[in-house]
Amino acid sequence: MDKSDFTKWSNRATDWGQTYLDTLRERPVRAQVSPGEIMAKLPPQAPEQPEDMEEIFNDFANIVPDGMTHWQHPRFFAYFPANAAPASMIAEQLANTMAAQCMLWQTSPAATEIETRMVEWLRDALGLAPHFSGVIQDSATSSTLSAILTMRERALSWRGNKSGLSGEKPVRIYASAQTHSSIDKACWIAGIGQQNLVKIPTDAHYSMSTQALRAAIRADRKAGFLPAGIVICVGGTSIGATDDVAAIIEVAKDENLYTHVDAAWAGSAMICPEFRPLWHGVDGADSIVFNPHKWLGAQFDCSVQFLAEPSAQIRTLGLRPEYLKTQGAGEITNYNEWTVPLGRRFRALKLWFLLRAYGLEGLRTRIRNHVAWVKELEGKLAAHPDFTIITELRFSLFTFQYTPKDGDANALTAALLAKINDDGRIYLTQTQHEGKFVIRMTAGQFDCTRDDVMAVYDVLVALSARLSPQAHP
Ligand SMILES: Cc1ncc(COP(=O)(O)O)c(C=O)c1O
Repeated sequence: MDKSDFTKWSNRATDWGQTYLDTLRERPVRAQVSPGEIMAKLPPQAPEQPEDMEEIFNDFANIVPDGMTHWQHPRFFAYFPANAAPASMIAEQLANTMAAQCMLWQTSPAATEIETRMVEWLRDALGLAPHFSGVIQDSATSSTLSAILTMRERALSWRGNKSGLSGEKPVRIYASAQTHSSIDKACWIAGIGQQNLVKIPTDAHYSMSTQALRAAIRADRKAGFLPAGIVICVGGTSIGATDDVAAIIEVAKDENLYTHVDAAWAGSAMICPEFRPLWHGVDGADSIVFNPHKWLGAQFDCSVQFLAEPSAQIRTLGLRPEYLKTQGAGEITNYNEWTVPLGRRFRALKLWFLLRAYGLEGLRTRIRNHVAWVKELEGKLAAHPDFTIITELRFSLFTFQYTPKDGDANALTAALLAKINDDGRIYLTQTQHEGKFVIRMTAGQFDCTRDDVMAVYDVLVALSARLSPQAHP
């Protein structure tokens, strides 16, 4: 295929895409294939000679969609959503066509300046203080890694990058057990080590105990460790647990520690002022991450990291070899100096399209609807004798078990979940909570309706009736 065929094939892809989106509801949400099934359809070697685009396109249509789990399906209630509002998909196509590589201002002035403006738009939309600036990353994992590397370097007075960690006091990071595994991974990669990520106990609400946090930091200092930073959880992945942000930041300030707030999922909800009390005090944080691709509607991938003072992170990650210098430039922003990778995609474009095409009010309405519908579903399930709510609604997430009169609730809940996902009408996933196998329910897909959420109740009742003869009378 050459450039002269671009219109033909991109139109064909667009037509395919429109039909796909229009008929998405008819597909099972989760891929119904077995491991190895797709690979068996692919020849073991790459072709030596060019193949016809018609054949390539047909193979795509015949092999790929049935081998995919459909994250844009309105009845996707698993994990957290990864969204793709139509306007942001279009922006992504345009960015792809320009093959944008946005490592330096010079390689992409429009991308750099739109990125700066989009971070400002989102900062204001989330109600954050005007001193925050920020950068767009691929994932919350990368944003958190950047923050944890910054914690390490700041605590070591920037000796780590230069001389390595040997001979230094072991650096310690603090977080609750409710934080995402990306915090653990960041500590591995940063050379801090799993055992130096101190998991602080939580209180009755699954928020980090500030008393225990303070005690752990002080005990560590006495024992010769080097406390460096605290990761604060707002909307944890398992059950939506949320720390007391203001109280933890107070401890951090007393102890001169750097703070990073992981609001990868729940951050989007902060465009609605009524949720902001849940991260009260956040303006005192050093770093905050939220993923507009999760709940706001931006095409995956898109993670925004806000920074109170970017110089610490730039000092940690910024390198300017001769071949990357911009000759004759004065003060310009080179966003690669804020992040781990050098090459960067043009992610700001999809935010620009998203925020303009739906408006903040349109996005707020979606988030408010998701929360209200999931709350309604929680109420219906709570009233059913065979289901028990295990953790109550946090943002748009609650967890439950299948608890008929007889039988082991963990095993029955696992069996019900398998049945649900083999059935394909809805998609739910699980977590472990205090030794219980529970099903997580969260809505956040961009086109999800009240009927879609209520369908969960109907599917649960119908499939559980087939599973267990011991339901409550
Ligand atoms: C609270 C939280 N933090 C971090 C992550 C990691 O996100 P990413 O896939 O963008 O690295 C997730 C993923 O779901 C999450 O829920």
